[in-house]
Amino acid sequence: MTQLISWLSILIRCKNNIQEQITPLLKTLNQPQPNHGIGAGGDPIKQIDLAAENAIIHTIKKHKISFTLVSEESGVKEYGETPQEHYVTADPIDGTTNLMRGIPFYATSIAISTKPTLNTIHTALVADLTHGIIYTSQKGKGTYRNNQKITPSKTTSLEEAVIGIDLNTYKIQKIAPHLTDLIQKTKHIRHLGANALELCYVADGTTDAFIDIRGKLRTTDMAAAWLMIKEADANITTPEGKPLNVKLDPKQKVAFIATANQKIHKTILSLIKPEKETE
Ligand code: IPD
Ligand code: CA
Repeated sequence: MTQLISWLSILIRCKNNIQEQITPLLKTLNQPQPNHGIGAGGDPIKQIDLAAENAIIHTIKKHKISFTLVSEESGVKEYGETPQEHYVTADPIDGTTNLMRGIPFYATSIAISTKPTLNTIHTALVADLTHGIIYTSQKGKGTYRNNQKITPSKTTSLEEAVIGIDLNTYKIQKIAPHLTDLIQKTKHIRHLGANALELCYVADGTTDAFIDIRGKLRTTDMAAAWLMIKEADANITTPEGKPLNVKLDPKQKVAFIATANQKIHKTILSLIKPEKETE
């Protein structure tokens, strides 16, 4: 138990260190950026992503903890003598495009687990790096937003709901048929561009659902937010309504429906047609 408590404070130190490291880089974004190749998750690595990842590694190493890092940038890397003891799944910056364009909606996302699987995550942090908001969660203890326990919304009507849908894919023709009924019946659709944070918005009642059925999102992007959803007593399932458990790996992709309550979950599931009906 003391270990869980210390992980939370380590994650907060990671976040503080990230902010310290990236602040000077934010002022250089309009200058030509160095080429750091392609990250383990398949996207080009930006200098700011690397700086954030290094801040996480250095902070945890300082505490003399052995761990396996599962990161969107460097991939899977082992540190210390017993790296299988702790898995640190990180998306150092979620919403890099927003950050590069000066859109103030991006986050750091870190999850700690005992195995490289979603359902063994026990401690997590998602920090909104522009609004001073930190979401934290520990298994069995709820989810907190700046130390205040959060609960999801009770909204059930699609007329009132605000629903996030990630439509960011070249394969839109494949997924659009599954979403048209839902979009037609929902008054307020959003996509803000940092999926970890958008899942936290479902956990704290800012929005009522967040849907990503592209099969494109990496588990590194949503691992920490998965615990926020679970511990806030919101819902997250596969698009077919099955329990979600995947491997934590930068190459592992995930699709999900996250909602504030069972009733809206059922409504959304009934409107998102299963794959076979549209093929
Ligand atoms: C991205 C964001 C974005 C989603 C992309 C992700 P990144 O994360 O979460 O909202 O549409 O698929 O890759 O690349 O900025 O860490
Ligand atoms: Ca990222």
